[in-house]
Amino acid sequence: MRFLKFILCFIIIQVSAQQGGMWIPSLLEGMNENEMQSLGSNLTAKDIYDVNNSSLKDAIGHFNGGCTSEVISPKGLLLTNHHCGFSQIQSHSSLENDYLKDGFWAMSFDEEIPNEGLYVEFIVRIEDVTDAMLAGLTEDLSSKEKQSKIDINRNGVVKKVQKEDWQDIKIRPFYKGNQYYLFVTERFKDIRLVGAPPSSIGKFGSDTDNWVWPRHTGDFSMFRIYADKDNRPAEYSKDNQPYTPKHFLPVSLDGIEEGDFTMVFGFPGRTNEYLPTVAVEQITQKVNPSNIAIREAALKVIDAHMKVDDKIRIQYASKQARIANAWKKWIGETQGIEKSGAIDIKRQFEIDFKKAVKEKGLEDKYGTVLSEFETLYEEFETINIKRNGFVEVFIRTNELMYMMFQLAQMENAANKSDAAFEKAKASVINRLKGIHKNYNVNVDKGVFESVMPIYSDKIDASIYDKTAFTDLDTALNMLEGSAKTVLKNLNKDAAYIYAKPMIVEFYTSLEPEYQRINSKINTLQAKYMEALMTAMPEERYFPDANSTLRITYGKVNGYSPRDAIYYNPVTYLDGVIEKYVPGDYEFDVPQKLRDLYKAKDYGQYADVNGKLPVCFLGTNHTTGGNSGSPAIDAEGNLVGLNFDRVWEGTMSDIYYDPEICRNIMVDLRYVLFIIDKYAGAKHLIDEMTLVHPKK
Ligand code: ARG
Ligand code: ASP
Repeated sequence: MRFLKFILCFIIIQVSAQQGGMWIPSLLEGMNENEMQSLGSNLTAKDIYDVNNSSLKDAIGHFNGGCTSEVISPKGLLLTNHHCGFSQIQSHSSLENDYLKDGFWAMSFDEEIPNEGLYVEFIVRIEDVTDAMLAGLTEDLSSKEKQSKIDINRNGVVKKVQKEDWQDIKIRPFYKGNQYYLFVTERFKDIRLVGAPPSSIGKFGSDTDNWVWPRHTGDFSMFRIYADKDNRPAEYSKDNQPYTPKHFLPVSLDGIEEGDFTMVFGFPGRTNEYLPTVAVEQITQKVNPSNIAIREAALKVIDAHMKVDDKIRIQYASKQARIANAWKKWIGETQGIEKSGAIDIKRQFEIDFKKAVKEKGLEDKYGTVLSEFETLYEEFETINIKRNGFVEVFIRTNELMYMMFQLAQMENAANKSDAAFEKAKASVINRLKGIHKNYNVNVDKGVFESVMPIYSDKIDASIYDKTAFTDLDTALNMLEGSAKTVLKNLNKDAAYIYAKPMIVEFYTSLEPEYQRINSKINTLQAKYMEALMTAMPEERYFPDANSTLRITYGKVNGYSPRDAIYYNPVTYLDGVIEKYVPGDYEFDVPQKLRDLYKAKDYGQYADVNGKLPVCFLGTNHTTGGNSGSPAIDAEGNLVGLNFDRVWEGTMSDIYYDPEICRNIMVDLRYVLFIIDKYAGAKHLIDEMTLVHPKK
């Protein structure tokens, strides 16, 4: 391991047009800084990340653990995507106050709405703790022994860290566990909703346009961070004050043009850029199609109900969006891998790797890694598909089965102890209440009838007429009493009787078998990573995304998805009007926006060509979790808000092709225009610092 670190320091990385990569912000000096500057950036590594002075990183917050957000005013005003704030916007919506449909704008601090459970986390500092974490880890240890050694080391590291009482610590593996970094963090828990455009702007184009360019979505929403009287993180209190940030991003009114430098600063969730070819084949040819089929079946039912019933539309908005998003991404991913020839390119790369291993005399150590992958993935295939199927049916799509899944865990806990039972019961009650807040039995029964046949040949939809769990009151009734009573009643419930054998199968054979092979694969993947970096040190490696703060950079750039087609990198309001379908579920446009378009009333937000920009493309390498990330210009100003990728490039999580992988951002001028001209919330603009870096 130490050898590897030594080598890493001396890797010479070519600065080429080929970008991609998600880099650790505390390690930008040298290679990344040079490359960014060669792309047009005027920022230094220290402007981006500095421990002793405020820097760009202080404006970037992890939004509820799944998205990114940024502070854009001295009063803690926070910007993220509409789809990132979606479940909060939904939770405050009703048929009377339909914020999903009509939007919401707080006209004063008093009107800003608290959100239980929502948090935003900042990174105070990042430290390399590789040596301490890997101390005493020798080749001869079993993976169990290694893990317990790592746990001991972790405790040692945590004890020594200097931090304030209100700060937290996280340690995360990088390069598949070949390196470790520690993060000191600050988590704010009083986050209030400030504004959201109507879905016809914030989700314009909905599923048809999701993952697609050209795009015309104003995918943004606004929140505000509140802190206690000492400006520190605190639980919600009406006495809390708007947070004064260490840094906030100025907003550029000059926008971008093709070729301009941009960087995206945020919390990418998960990539798998160094998988062997067999794994990529299995994911794209076997697992994706199987998962897609289940989600497609569920969506058909949910969509049909949402279109004809407004109450269901609000109830299922968030769930539908979640199911649809990955469904469509997997389709694009599989197509992209095929079209880009990724399999052949990866095969060739593996041939080069084997050659390098041989030439460097590393065959004893790494000579069998690839063939071991072949064997493991073959063994993995059936169980991998089946286990994915279980997750899709019992956890992601069918709500009654999800309730049964929770109940079975409670029965399991009851077999351990009364205390465990009580704890599990409390958690099930919470879950049941959560599900029933937005539950429609007809929708769910329809989903059951269409997804279950894909997983099992035993189907009995009559359970919906007999079970107690399609109604919250009768469901909670079932949970009253001692463990013995509850379990006795539960085991008489039709849905539970139906689901239990499949859940038991999951826990006794599916899951253990899946984990057994998967942990072997993970161990081998770590070895492969080490082998790659040792045998081919001249290649450029970045650590796969792991929900930690990263920076990715590139240029504003169009792309050519097919012969003779070139996509321009900027869309305008004209395109929104072109797509307008009156009264449509996805492509309706609010009257007021059409009026503003007609009058060309764009104020200070128009482009030099007089048009109003809406979205733009860049070569920044992003993934899920980067949603809501700021797109920052060469001077450190906010120019865009990242929210998606293009259809042809959604495979970038497993194979980044600089020719066609593009991220999609909303132009900040469109965001400001909607706030100011559409919503009349000029007071929010007045909080910001607007700049003209190009003038
Ligand atoms: N595709 C984007 C992302 O992965 C945006 C999703 C918005 N949701 C939707 N179903 N339209 O999150
Ligand atoms: N839309 C994604 C997100 O929510 C971003 C992406 O996958 O490109 O993070």
